Formats: sequence, C-alpha cells, structure tokens
Amino acid sequence: MIANAAQQLDRLGYLDIDVDPTLDLAAEIQRLKREKNAVILAHYYQESEIQDLADYIGDSLGLSQQAAKTDADIIVFAGVHFMAETAKMLSPDKKVLLPDLKAGCSLADSCPPHLFRKFKEKYPDHLVVSYINCSAELKTLTDICCTSTNAVQVIESIPPEQPIIFAPDKNLGAYLVKKTGRDMVIWNGACMVHEIFSHERIVKLKQRHPQAKFIAHPECEAHILEMADFIGSTTGLLNFTKRDPATEFIVATETGILHQMQKASPHKTFIPAPPNNNCACNDCPHMKRNTLEKLYLCMEHELPEIILPEWVIREGRKSIDRMLEISAAAGL
Ligand code: 13P
Ligand code: SF4
Repeated sequence: MIANAAQQLDRLGYLDIDVDPTLDLAAEIQRLKREKNAVILAHYYQESEIQDLADYIGDSLGLSQQAAKTDADIIVFAGVHFMAETAKMLSPDKKVLLPDLKAGCSLADSCPPHLFRKFKEKYPDHLVVSYINCSAELKTLTDICCTSTNAVQVIESIPPEQPIIFAPDKNLGAYLVKKTGRDMVIWNGACMVHEIFSHERIVKLKQRHPQAKFIAHPECEAHILEMADFIGSTTGLLNFTKRDPATEFIVATETGILHQMQKASPHKTFIPAPPNNNCACNDCPHMKRNTLEKLYLCMEHELPEIILPEWVIREGRKSIDRMLEISAAAGL
C-alpha cells in the first residue's frame, strides 16, 4: 500500500483511493481527529464544508500562530503548500499533513529562490522582508516575514535608514510603500487571483449597488485598491463586515471568505467582485484542490506529509519567529 501510495503521491500529489460513497465523511474526519489527536487548521479560502470541520479557521497570521502553539500530534493543514511548510517550520516535531501536495500558490511560484538569491546579491545592504506567501527556501533568504495583517507593523519596526527589499508580491509592496512612505526595492511577483478583478465591472456594480461598501485585499492591483472603502487581510475584511453598519459589501478577494462573512452577518449581502472575464477566476485553483475526500484520506493514511530539510527549518524559521515577535509586540 505505501509503495503504491508513494507512486500516486509522486504523480497526483494526493491519494487516489476509492472512498465508500456511503461513508459520512464529516463524521469520519471528526473520529480521526479524536483518535489521532489531530488538529485541522483551515484558511478562509477553503471550501465551506472544509471550513465547517476545522478546529481553527483563519488568515495566514492566525494560522501560523495556531501552528506554533498547538499541542496536537498531527497538524492537518487545509490550505496551500507554503502554509503547511510554515506550520512544519514552527512545529518541526509534529507530523504536518496537506491533503493535496500540489495545492501550490502562483505568488510563491513567482519568486524562485535561485533567482531571488542573485537579485539579493545586487543589494548587499538591504534587509529582506518577504510576504509569508513564499517557499520555505525563500524564507531562508529572508530576514523578516510578514502577512497582510502585520505587514505595516513589520515595515515600521525597521529603522528608517535601513534599505529594504520586499518580496514577492509587487501589489502588496506598492500598497506598503504608499501606506508607510518607505521606498523599497520590490520583487515583481503577483497572485493570479487578486490580479483578475475588473475595474470597469466593479465601477458598474457599484453604480447598481450605491449603498454597498467596496472592500479589498492588499494583494489587489493599485487601481482596484484606490476604489476601496476598506483594505485589509482576510481577517481584517471579515471583521470590517461585522462592525460596519452597511448591509451590502462588494468583496475583492478569493470567494471562500464569503462563507464566514455570511455566517457572521446573515442579514447582510456579500457580492464577489467581478473578474475581468466570465470565469470563476477569483476562486483560487490551488486552495480549491483540497476536497473533503482528500482531507479524509490524508487523515486516514497520514499522507501526504510535509518533509523539510533540517537546515531549511533552522534557517527559514528565524524570519517567521521575528515576524511573530513583532506581531505580539503590536498586539496582533
Ligand atoms: P491572508 O491570509 O493574509 O489574508 O492572505 C490571503 C492569501 O492570499 C493567502 O493565500
Ligand atoms: Fe496564492 Fe493567490 Fe491562491 Fe493565496 S489566493 S494561495 S496568494 S494563488
């Protein structure tokens, strides 16, 4: 079975084993959680049925904080590869499972470490701040990580005379330059989901819903952010919709977050911001690779598991620890 599983994982990235269609997958996942002392951490962009089974649902910062403090034996990461790697770096003695190893990230892929290493050599005096949406190896080339929740605080913690390279997201980088007034060297990467929103179609939608607030994630392009009534991380956007008196919101981020928004404010209306064509391109294809069946199979067989070289854990972790210290000091 393991040789077979290893071959499958190599080819598909997940276990492709027939699941009895009469099984109550939700009940089975709850049983496996108890029996194996496992915790399920899910990002807001997961399918709603996965979110509903999770022990913790959150943004990249919240998920890292949970991964660092859990006392479970197994962390099942319902998210993408860089998030599960981060959990492994923070809890190296625990088994970290990802239902589909091919759940990647276009933003992380836009910054290959061997190219970044050469880029960094051109700026020997610069400190490197990397958005957590990057590979474990890129984190070994990073001084401080950040997420969309703490990016401003991370940049502001650095002395003003210290030059900075920001990687890999050019949109978040441009937003931070505007917000903090710091001139940074920015890597030219982007998220395929947050670059798809149509300015023209959002303008029209706002005209049809004049009372609606337009809210956006800072991974969106500058011309989209300029229209926003509020800009924030997924948790920031969710909290805004809870506290703001508006009853209609146009939301420019991945559609998975709408599940928690609707649950928290059932009387309010949430409209996904339209992409620049008629596809469902604001669904992240990587996040959506995880399914309930894959979650069940990965917990049953404890595969696929995230394995990282010891030096990557040791070196990469420093940048995440530094981020968590800055977040704690800022009360985040
Ligand atoms: P946050 O979780 O920081 O809001 O980032 C969103 C994202 O793109 C995760 O992949
Ligand atoms: Fe990566 Fe964008 Fe998907 Fe987030 S939404 S995992 S940044 S591709």
